[in-house]
Amino acid sequence: MKTLVVYDSLYGNTAQVAKAIGSAVAGESQVLRVAQANPSELGSFDLVVVGAPTQGGRATEAMQAFLARVPALEGARVAVFDTRLRAKWVKVFGYAAGKIAERMEALGATLVTEPEGFIVEGKKGPLAGGELERAGAWAKDLRPD
Ligand SMILES: Cc1cc2nc3c(=O)[nH]c(=O)nc-3n(C[C@H](O)[C@H](O)[C@H](O)COP(=O)(O)O)c2cc1C
Repeated sequence: MKTLVVYDSLYGNTAQVAKAIGSAVAGESQVLRVAQANPSELGSFDLVVVGAPTQGGRATEAMQAFLARVPALEGARVAVFDTRLRAKWVKVFGYAAGKIAERMEALGATLVTEPEGFIVEGKKGPLAGGELERAGAWAKDLRPD
């Protein structure tokens, strides 16, 4: 199984989660920051994992711009995640993972699992205790079918 993990990260927390996912996922994996990824290549992987920090209830501008350039993904298998604050008041805005999932499904991709969020303790982090381990456990179970 060949997996591509594409992520964006402002303060480095989502990058850490993306790398933990890349290390834990079964088979071969490539972990790329969104600026390095080619939107046309997503369809050539068995599984694509997309993750971004939640900013204003959605993914970063760079991730949104990237996803806008991804061509149809009929038959592709994807999983999505974000990083987010624990605070209850931010819930009303929604989270990046849900919005990324909507975009991927609109492109014809199938989600292999529910969108997942990993918690940061503050805007700049750090990740809450155990979140990298939880990301690894989440990734271990990801399969394209
Ligand atoms: C401009 C801005 C807006 C944010 N908006 C939200 C939000 O709506 N909901 C939320 O849970 N976290 C929000 N956050 C916190 C981010 O989720 C947090 O900075 C991010 O998870 C850190 O990941 P990174 O280190 O990869 O950038 C916001 C952060 C910034 C800088």
